[in-house]
Amino acid sequence: MQELILPRCDDMHVHLRDGQALSRTVVDSSAWCARALVMPNLSPAVDSLEALAGYRERILAACPDGRDFIPLMTLYCSDNLTARMIYQAKAQGVVAVKWYPQGVTTNSAQGVAAVEGLYPVLEAMQEVGLLFLIHGEVSDPAVDIFDRESVFLDRVLIPMRRRFPALKMVLEHITTTDAAHYVLSEKENLAATITPQHLLFTRNQLLVGGVKPHYYCLPILKTETDRQALIEAATSGDPRFFLGTDSAPHSRSDKESACGCAGCYSALHAPALYAAVFDRAGALDKLEDFACRFGARYYGLSQNGGTIVLRRETNVIPAELPYGGADVVPLMAGHAWPWRLV
Ligand code: NCD
Ligand code: ZN
Repeated sequence: MQELILPRCDDMHVHLRDGQALSRTVVDSSAWCARALVMPNLSPAVDSLEALAGYRERILAACPDGRDFIPLMTLYCSDNLTARMIYQAKAQGVVAVKWYPQGVTTNSAQGVAAVEGLYPVLEAMQEVGLLFLIHGEVSDPAVDIFDRESVFLDRVLIPMRRRFPALKMVLEHITTTDAAHYVLSEKENLAATITPQHLLFTRNQLLVGGVKPHYYCLPILKTETDRQALIEAATSGDPRFFLGTDSAPHSRSDKESACGCAGCYSALHAPALYAAVFDRAGALDKLEDFACRFGARYYGLSQNGGTIVLRRETNVIPAELPYGGADVVPLMAGHAWPWRLV
């Protein structure tokens, strides 16, 4: 199969940023996505309905004319969230609330620190059917960075799911065998997104032969065993696993720094990245469901119209791209890649 025609996709986890960055991120995402689930970790965080409505307008204004692209908006789970806001959010078409436990990643300082503080909000979400999206890591300084996802499952997620069994959750950007197996062990109301970088790389790419900041993201890349478990999950045809790129641009200077930011930019070419993974696994026939159907189904959305074309054709990924007044280095920059988004 040299060419793959897919429906326009859903990216169920993307950072579009704001301001000048939108002319990069929205243009790239809307080239292949009909919908994108927009993360709210701006600074300040998108934790009010007013901020969310303004952000949505700026995203739509950055979308090239004639492209059909719907930003699915999410509300940031800070201490400002109330049950009342959840009812209003539902009425205004917000699809989900995103929780960054305080201190886990970029712009998580405003995140609710302990799950107990969230109970009234979670009760309201469970009642109205808003999804709860979770960055599943602990920020406890005593926990090793490579164990933070697994520890989160035991300490936070499992008890929380016992208390809110009817709350529909997404464990975002899973990175470990533990997380993949936990999702499989739950009968309902739990799904997971998987990024291209966690399917393609391990911590060796990040650390062996010198620190390579463009592979640094959170949750951090894990082991080969973990990567294999993620490939198995993504290509299994199980509807609980679906595409979420976690495309998270930072300027080159913010990445190539003594204290480099976490995040990989993949909105430009993510379908080609995933295609190579599915191709190598002999599972190209499973890509369409993963990229275009399972996410929509879990979120209760209809399937997208339109199509995109992926071609098995070696091409070189650009070394850098204009990004606001600076530039951003896309994932696998400068490398020859076996698939191309036409
Ligand atoms: C994201 C960012 O930069 O906003 N970074 C990342 O490494 N994934 C935040 C996040 O999703 O953790
Ligand atoms: Zn993210």
